[in-house]
Amino acid sequence: MTGKPYDFNRKALSQLPHMAAEPLYGPWEQVVRGYKQFCAMAAAVRLRIFDHLVELRQPMDLADQLNADPKMITDLCDLLADMELLVRYQDGFLVSALSRTYLCSDSAWFQEEVIKNIFSGFGLWQQLDRICIEGPVKVDEADFFENNLIDSLASEILTGELQQTVAAVTRQPEFAAAQRMLDLGGGHGLYAMALAAQKQDLEAIVYDFNPVEKDFKRYKEKFKANGVRFVAGNLFADDLGNGFDLVLFSYNPGGKNERILEKIHQCLNPGGLFVTKHALYREAEAAKSTLLDIEWQLTAFRGVAKGRNVYAFEQDLSEEAYMERLQQDFEIIETIDAKEFATPPLAKFGDRLDSIIIISRKR
Ligand SMILES: C[S@@+](CC[C@H](N)C(=O)[O-])C[C@H]1O[C@@H](n2cnc3c(N)ncnc32)[C@H](O)[C@@H]1O
Repeated sequence: MTGKPYDFNRKALSQLPHMAAEPLYGPWEQVVRGYKQFCAMAAAVRLRIFDHLVELRQPMDLADQLNADPKMITDLCDLLADMELLVRYQDGFLVSALSRTYLCSDSAWFQEEVIKNIFSGFGLWQQLDRICIEGPVKVDEADFFENNLIDSLASEILTGELQQTVAAVTRQPEFAAAQRMLDLGGGHGLYAMALAAQKQDLEAIVYDFNPVEKDFKRYKEKFKANGVRFVAGNLFADDLGNGFDLVLFSYNPGGKNERILEKIHQCLNPGGLFVTKHALYREAEAAKSTLLDIEWQLTAFRGVAKGRNVYAFEQDLSEEAYMERLQQDFEIIETIDAKEFATPPLAKFGDRLDSIIIISRKR
């Protein structure tokens, strides 16, 4: 388009635009519809509608129980049925198999925390213009993980990644002989809890920032976990202890850091297993996801300098350098691609992208 576009605004009253609006409105319509459906589903979770509809109920009866407007509840149930989250039956509604598994509060796979985390991401994205000018929202690293992220990650991995990762570890012959393990930056501690549940004599330590201990305790209680305890520390600054037969290191700021790799090597017994799960960047790789690169830059940790790409930090080794450094001290037993273990993507922080699990043995 050339010239002065709209010196003559009045002309626009009779003249069609230079382009049809469809390519603009088409994607908007999808987003707007999806967002509103997401809000409806989230409202139903907060109102515990799915819990109530484990048994067949009529919307009037449900509205009565919720002390809510019957017309709104009837329409909401209709919308949720169109979304296949409820099933219409006679004059009433019932949960679908999907919502029974993930949207009922008594399910171990309840996803309410993920919904909250998605909304908090929207809140950050709404500040993008301001952040472009004033810089990222500054958070303490410990607070960043504290603010629902630990719970969201726990709910996400319970949909499959936890079980797949644990199976990859327990099938190693070294696991049968392991006595002590360290879940480094373990947060919720679910990996340590799941591994300890497979081996009664395993002493599992979850190492994380001090404030994360209360989250760990909640999960320990929820899953009635035995053989697992918490050690508070900053893995960059503090000692990791020693005498471990297994170190699990999953999605952590130190995941590609040479100094942390050396610390892990030191804390392992000879022949000990090191299981790391991270997204590595090849030297020539520009980006894995521009969308998530932007999301990564919406916040800044006090203390650890982020790199430009999602999950990248300033001191990170490239994939090539990391693999070379790893193999100086460890023998690689197995690498596993994300498609073998990862939870489905959600276009948000936490997506696995092309992360890999590397299982290695201390030389
Ligand atoms: C993305 S979460 C991963 C949690 C868990 N390992 C998983 O894979 O689901 C990163 C965890 O590392 C912890 N963490 C980050 N930096 C740390 C540090 N310097 N010292 C100890 N823990 C740290 C965070 O508190 C958080 O629990």
